[in-house]
Amino acid sequence: MKFRNKRVVVTGGAAGIGKDIVAGFIHEGAFVHALDFDTEMLHRLRTEKRFTGGRLCCHLCNVANEQDVIRVVGEIITEGAVDVLINNAGINHSPLPVPQTSAVDWQRILTNNLSPIHLVSKAIIPNMPQGTIINIASILGLTGGRSCSAYSASKGGVIALTKSMALDHAPTIRVNCICPGAVSTQMFEEYVKRCDDPVTETKRIVEAIPLKRLGTVRDITKAVLFLASDDAAWITGANLVVDGGDTL
Ligand SMILES: NC(=O)c1ccc[n+]([C@@H]2O[C@H](COP(=O)([O-])OP(=O)(O)OC[C@H]3O[C@@H](n4cnc5c(N)ncnc54)[C@H](O)[C@@H]3O)[C@@H](O)[C@H]2O)c1
Repeated sequence: MKFRNKRVVVTGGAAGIGKDIVAGFIHEGAFVHALDFDTEMLHRLRTEKRFTGGRLCCHLCNVANEQDVIRVVGEIITEGAVDVLINNAGINHSPLPVPQTSAVDWQRILTNNLSPIHLVSKAIIPNMPQGTIINIASILGLTGGRSCSAYSASKGGVIALTKSMALDHAPTIRVNCICPGAVSTQMFEEYVKRCDDPVTETKRIVEAIPLKRLGTVRDITKAVLFLASDDAAWITGANLVVDGGDTL
């Protein structure tokens, strides 16, 4: 077990990639705090049989809200320092070019995708004498993409923020990010549903991926567990692209 009794915080931990990351750390012996603002998904997570072994603590928390973050992180650190922080929470609600993106939507995407990494890291780093932080960005933060200006900008910000944090907190805290390609989750399903022809759009995406399939949540969890482990002891400020070759 690579993370026996390590204390791990996962934002957006109730669904999709975050939920599988939670499962991955628990499987490796960690105590995990899952933060999410979706009450129903959080309840499902809490009551799922594989998570009832006393190694998971669920917190209702909007990680874009500073007061919420301060309150919940305050509860977490009363039990001790945090070893691993996974900043995973994100949304992709307004996939539009700049002229059609309202100022409100622009702000909403940045507030939900970029600001939580600042807020949660700010609250946790003083309580992380040593450890590792992994931020979940996106290949769209590297390449940009059509009709996703705010989302791409927010994820480009995550990549840059990761590098600055890696410099600021070395040598005691390693900070890396992961850029997933298209991963089969609720977020991806909602994206294709918004397209004129979801089936054709899914086929088009898969066809463009050299490894000819969508990513699974497990593909991302494996990369997270690697970067968080001592196997990555000399890796900081890196951006690990996990996309089946999509950006090649
Ligand atoms: N699925 C993909 O294809 C894909 C690709 C690249 C990057 N990503 C990134 O991976 C991360 C996870 O995506 P996913 O596909 O699992 O999404 P998802 O929508 O399936 O799950 C996201 C989870 O985060 C939670 N969340 C969102 N904003 C929150 C907030 N402010 N406070 C608390 N909880 C919040 C949601 O309630 C949900 O449980 C996101 O940052 C996303 O941008 C996803």
